[in-house]
Amino acid sequence: MAISNIRYGEGVTKEIGMDLKNLGARRVCLMTDKNLSKLPPVNAVLNSLAKYGINFQMYDNVRVEPTDQSFIDAIQFARKGGFDAYVAVGGGSVIDTCKAANLYAASPSSEFLDYVNAPIGKGKPVTVPLKPLIAVPTTSGTGSETTGVAIFDFKELKVKTGIASRAIKPTLGIIDPLHTLSMPERIVANSGFDVLCHALESYTALPYNQRSPCPSNPIDRPAYQGSNPISDVWALHALRIVAKYLKRAIRNPEDREARANMHLASAFAGIGFGNAGVHLCHGMSYPISGLVKSYKPKDYNVDHSLVPHGLSVVLTSPAVFAFTAQIHPERHLEAAEILGADIRTARIKDAGLILADTLRKFLFDLNVDDGLAAIGYSKADIPALVKGTLPQERVTKLSPRPQTEEDLSALFEASMKLY
Ligand SMILES: NC(=O)c1ccc[n+]([C@@H]2O[C@H](COP(=O)([O-])OP(=O)(O)OC[C@H]3O[C@@H](n4cnc5c(N)ncnc54)[C@H](O)[C@@H]3O)[C@@H](O)[C@H]2O)c1
Ligand SMILES: [Fe+2]
Repeated sequence: MAISNIRYGEGVTKEIGMDLKNLGARRVCLMTDKNLSKLPPVNAVLNSLAKYGINFQMYDNVRVEPTDQSFIDAIQFARKGGFDAYVAVGGGSVIDTCKAANLYAASPSSEFLDYVNAPIGKGKPVTVPLKPLIAVPTTSGTGSETTGVAIFDFKELKVKTGIASRAIKPTLGIIDPLHTLSMPERIVANSGFDVLCHALESYTALPYNQRSPCPSNPIDRPAYQGSNPISDVWALHALRIVAKYLKRAIRNPEDREARANMHLASAFAGIGFGNAGVHLCHGMSYPISGLVKSYKPKDYNVDHSLVPHGLSVVLTSPAVFAFTAQIHPERHLEAAEILGADIRTARIKDAGLILADTLRKFLFDLNVDDGLAAIGYSKADIPALVKGTLPQERVTKLSPRPQTEEDLSALFEASMKLY
């Protein structure tokens, strides 16, 4: 179990300047995106840096839903800067970009594909020492402040992939719920769906002791190890918080209790899935994001089309869990109960359908687009969506139920319309 250091509490961001001073940092790279650079979370960090006299350079060119090119741009900035510490203020897009910048700046002769997950990249283990990275999450979703994962959209292949290594985990996550107060409604919703799927997928993933072959050297152990007794605790706890607070956090920006709890749930689910892994909703989400046509989600202040990550994972969740429940039906039923289903008279063989129905109702209540068709996909796109899922074996092989190409086609087809 690998876990980042975490500090939690309203206003703790004001300590970041002191943290950097304690680290002896002389040249700090501060990363964020253009939208956030004008918002209170970045201001809070800037105030603290000024108060403690920290020398820094700001990079606000992070792309929301990063690409290989946007990662490379940030890496170039980091390589030129000679930084001795990094600060990422933002959602998963910013934190992931900063992890990649830190890694490649520490490994100047590496080619971009060296550390990218195989089979798309070379998947080399990280052996170079990285600089400290402090992550300040501003969404309640990815849990990226706790994970050794950095995801980007590989434009040439039109799929998302990433870099996964414990070595790129942030040194410290500063989880300050004040930052959630500026999030617009759909960003709360979509990032919250990511937490929901992290918890559900890691809890239902292939158990760690059924994953094979066992690596011959521990350095080759993957970050994602399959469901395990420690991750289970985090996943279930996160799921209970989602059940209690996600709707409230979305509907009422003034509900500080709900927003603060979702901010913690994001980290909790991150600790769980960062060690256990995710499976089909995430594996299938990467081409759903990568093949985006003209979808422009509400509340995302960006000029390019994109399918927000949380939306791209949740739209297939009813179909996925109806499919995987055959293997661990009791876990699927337990998840449905946590999310509000009455299971007193339920039959265990219906666990998948019950969880799928519970998820559909949850999404319907939150005005989520009615399936893949509503974000621009049709049946004709299914072969390309399947093709984009096949290289995602790092996660798809953690599905408790193995899947054929026909199974994947059927899952995409069943996700075209939800209600
Ligand atoms: N590393 C991991 O473990 C991991 C896990 C899941 C997802 N991801 C990746 O993370 C990315 C998605 O990250 P995300 O969902 O956190 O969102 P994001 O970083 O893409 O941000 C979405 C939008 O919200 C805005 N925003 C963020 N915080 C705000 C705030 N407090 N107030 C107002 N606006 C705010 C941003 O400016 C942006 O426009 C995807 O690329 C996804 O693949 C990574
Ligand atoms: Fe995710």
